[in-house]
Amino acid sequence: MAISAATKAATDALAVNRAPTGVNAQEVHRWLQSFTWDFDKNRTKYPTKYKMANDTKEQFKLIAKEYARMESVKDERQFGSLQDVLTRIDAGNKVHPKWNETMKVISNFLEVGEYNAIAATGMLWDSASAPEQKNGYLAQTLDEIRHTNQCGYVNYYFTKHGQDAAGHNDARRTRTIGPLWKGMKRVFSDGFISGDAVECSINLQLVGEACFTNPLIVAVTEWAAANGDEITPTVFLSIETDELRHMANGYQTIVSIANDEAASKYLYTDLNNAFWTQQKYFTPVLGMSFEYGSHFKVEPWVKTWNRWVYEDWGGIWIGRLGKYGVNSPASLRDAKKDAYWAHHDLFLIAYALWPTGFFRLTLPTTEEMDWFEENYPGWHEHYGVIYEEWRARGCEDPNSGFLPIMWFIENNHPI
Ligand SMILES: [Fe+2]
Ligand SMILES: [Fe+2]
Repeated sequence: MAISAATKAATDALAVNRAPTGVNAQEVHRWLQSFTWDFDKNRTKYPTKYKMANDTKEQFKLIAKEYARMESVKDERQFGSLQDVLTRIDAGNKVHPKWNETMKVISNFLEVGEYNAIAATGMLWDSASAPEQKNGYLAQTLDEIRHTNQCGYVNYYFTKHGQDAAGHNDARRTRTIGPLWKGMKRVFSDGFISGDAVECSINLQLVGEACFTNPLIVAVTEWAAANGDEITPTVFLSIETDELRHMANGYQTIVSIANDEAASKYLYTDLNNAFWTQQKYFTPVLGMSFEYGSHFKVEPWVKTWNRWVYEDWGGIWIGRLGKYGVNSPASLRDAKKDAYWAHHDLFLIAYALWPTGFFRLTLPTTEEMDWFEENYPGWHEHYGVIYEEWRARGCEDPNSGFLPIMWFIENNHPI
């Protein structure tokens, strides 16, 4: 049958200019790079005292299609494991009950950070003017949406398949009275989204992600596994594989402002403040969660802290930024003292204030008291004797009428 003139014209044109049937990822990346913004008139709702350069690169150069393919594989593995094998082996009920309480805190609190990271990276996307840098921030926004869902899913899973739903499913009922919530709001909410955009990036990416996600998301998986929890490592390690790109975004934020004279004026102070504010919360909270919230111990928190916060972050990561004029913050040295004792003080007051929490805390057993004394010489004299007194006065039995907070008042013990 004869074809129409129009069809023939189209067929002939296609024979000369072949329609693409596939496209190379790098070609797409080059095409994306060719997008430009009108830098002179580039306006942002979120200005910064620093000037971000227009030609900043992004190390991972992820394009949307590769990104979506990679993340869907990760999601399939993670949800597949959770819904199939982990449910069949009744993983939720194999978690040590003490650790089950700890995951109520960790997953609910991490969700706060992930949720605010969505807004923070959206803001950075708006503030930056280099196409690659915008691309990096945008991929991170998508990641943080994923992570918010993942943290919510951990609590959903523990609620549905675990041994004790209360606290996994209703943690927010105590957010106006629980002191731990207030600190979380300061470090992982306000710190990420309030004020200067670059300062928010320093809080989120340079300190929050590059420094504290290692203990918060990686060390926690070791403690979880040691305490019978296969659920948390399945989800949290899937989250952490994205965090590497986020740390790189933080690095590139610094590169983008390094030549701006504002950097020599403000950068050191902003970094010092961000680190100090965040460590003041995470150093005690993580140490308490691991050591007092587990039955089986992995290693003393002070050792983990020293390796990942002091050496890896303060030394190696910040060291790499040395060529851009960034020095390790002075507050790192003071923080070292907190790494030894702050979490012990926090547990003392957290236990005394248990009615303001949404999770259970238990006093250390005799075996655990020995572990504390062995790893923190002087612990028993300073803390152990207090727990012995509380126990003797019946703090574990509500009928005794003794609340440990009374002890603080009786002894005028500083909080
Ligand atoms: Fe995240
Ligand atoms: Fe992140």
